[in-house]
Amino acid sequence: MPDPPVPRADADRPTASDGGSPTRGRVSRRSLFGPSVGAIAALAGGVAVTTALRDGDDGDDGGATAGPAAFHGPHQPGILTPRQKHVRMAAFDLGDHTDRGRAAALFLRWTSAAERLMRGATPDPRAEPPGSRAAETGALAGTDPARLTLTFGLGPGFFDRPGLTAARPEALAPLPAFPDDRLDPARGGGHLLAQIGSDDAFVTAHVLRTLQRLAHGEARLRWTMSGFTAADGRRNLMGQIDGTNNPDPRRALLSGPAVPPWLVGGSYVVIRRIRMLLDHWDTLPLPHREQALGRRTADGAPLTGGGEHTPVDLEAARPDGVPVIAASAHIRLAAPAGNGGAVMFRRGWSYHDGLRSDGTPDAGLLFTAWQQDPRTAFVPVQRRLAQGDALSRYLVHESSAVFAVPGGVRPGGYLARDLLEG
Ligand code: HEM
Repeated sequence: MPDPPVPRADADRPTASDGGSPTRGRVSRRSLFGPSVGAIAALAGGVAVTTALRDGDDGDDGGATAGPAAFHGPHQPGILTPRQKHVRMAAFDLGDHTDRGRAAALFLRWTSAAERLMRGATPDPRAEPPGSRAAETGALAGTDPARLTLTFGLGPGFFDRPGLTAARPEALAPLPAFPDDRLDPARGGGHLLAQIGSDDAFVTAHVLRTLQRLAHGEARLRWTMSGFTAADGRRNLMGQIDGTNNPDPRRALLSGPAVPPWLVGGSYVVIRRIRMLLDHWDTLPLPHREQALGRRTADGAPLTGGGEHTPVDLEAARPDGVPVIAASAHIRLAAPAGNGGAVMFRRGWSYHDGLRSDGTPDAGLLFTAWQQDPRTAFVPVQRRLAQGDALSRYLVHESSAVFAVPGGVRPGGYLARDLLEG
């Protein structure tokens, strides 16, 4: 008997036999979704072609407007789309038995659910995983998804179990250790990432439940963290205006002949849970806090003058020769100029998870940076910051993860299909 076919979603239309043509592959369509062949068309393309995207139409707006995003497009939502009020980051680990076909089945279930959830529909009941007794409770019935976006990524450890070790990109190396890291491995790493953003925290919570349910038998939740943004999206919990000198987010997206097809339009994301020593920080005099950053707290302007978007003059010195922007200032050490031109798009979220056992706030930044290659972006910058950044004295890096984020999904396709069927 030849192997049953790999799930090519757009080829999976209802047929008389449900057998499909046996080609290369590892799973049958029946094993993907249970007995209903008709589910395939609906899952993979039938109901999904609601957005009729043209080539080059992003399905999002790079931050220009705040309307709902579409799941389909050349890159996944949740990178260029404006941040929502709430996020839930979650990492999953594959089970021991997840081969390529089963991974494809999981991605097809997640793709179908993501597309439907983002437009306010419930997951297709025919897409429940085999052997699962759980079902959709309807918790989101009648609820506005509130600009929901779902973004999925693959960690360095994903590739081995489905037999894809050779396809792991070199840029997806585990991050090195940095001085003063105090990482909790249980809250870092992971084979798969789901970034769930919405203006409604109830939506993010139930969508995570849904992804967990659909991962039954294939992947289990490793860690989850939640975050939020300020109403105007500008300040972090240290009181600073954050994000001023961010590059155009499109500079974090991958393109070109050297990029594997499944990563075209994708990116790499580094996530660091960075606790702020707020009880200490809040006692510092304002000039000290501003020197540590290199910018004014009130309006985000560089200490060399002007407004928030006035270019920083790193050469400016006081009459006594002391640099206006201190040698240890965060914006001096992090600037691309001193880091080989390193470009990353920071799209972080604040968090506050109550008090630690010592009574200090468990609060900080879910630092989230998108880039074309962590080895030439996050890694050199963090190496430099960890060595002498004045801001870092009030920060503790507590967890760390890196993921390759596949390009966007076209109507009729599914997440990372070119990788799983390549
Ligand atoms: C809790 C931790 C952190 C806080 C509170 C923080 C805060 C800030 C603030 C307020 C700015 C100035 C405004 C702006 O341009 O966005 C800034 C700039 C920047 N930060 Fe951070 N940051 C943190 C961690 C990091 C880390 C871990 C990295 C990278 C490894 C990083 C990289 C940068 C870069 C590249 C800039 C822009 C520098 C420039 O070109 O002017 N930051 N950060």
